[in-house]
Amino acid sequence: MKNVIVGILLGVALCLVGGFLFLTRGGMPVKTEGGPLPFELYLAHAALRSAIGTEADRPSPIPADEKNLVGGAHVYRAQCSVCHGEWGRLPSAIAKGMFPQPPQLLPPKTGVTDDPVGETYWKVRNGIRLTGMPGYGSSLSDTEIWQVSLLLLHAQELPPPAKDVLQR
Ligand code: HEC
Repeated sequence: MKNVIVGILLGVALCLVGGFLFLTRGGMPVKTEGGPLPFELYLAHAALRSAIGTEADRPSPIPADEKNLVGGAHVYRAQCSVCHGEWGRLPSAIAKGMFPQPPQLLPPKTGVTDDPVGETYWKVRNGIRLTGMPGYGSSLSDTEIWQVSLLLLHAQELPPPAKDVLQR
């Protein structure tokens, strides 16, 4: 029994030393070019899903009317388009140089039109650590965050005044 415990402790210590050496001796990719590590995407997505939890089901407290979609379009142009793209244009140099690459959220891409609006609200309010996605909870009002979340939900079916702001 004693030998088994010593074996387990040795195994754990070896894993910790291996992990430390991997991180400090150049095994860990730090450039933005190149792919993810094995399991990196799975673990990152699982952590994000569990952090958002039932908050994804939160309904928007404001309607997706023309006024709010135009408001969302102004927020998008000022805060988001540098990473998430201008309407119908190729990704910016900043977006191309990031890891992970920011998804393009306006047409012709489908963006997050399939995600619940509460999930988009959560991501915009809190950000996503170590990805470059900023949290806007302390710089945009709650109404502005809902407006831009509604804009992205309805990106494929926007009223002309909201499209005008995005295509100007
Ligand atoms: C500096 C670059 C940058 C800016 C500015 C930025 N984002 Fe992001 N955003 C990212 C990156 C990178 C990701 C991808 C994160 C990941 O892979 O988990 C992301 C992810 C997202 C997602 C999740 C997409 C998905 O497919 O699940 C949403 C929604 C989002 N951003 C909305 C916004 C909004 C709205 C704004 C402006 C208010 C904004 N972002 C500003 C970089 C940015």
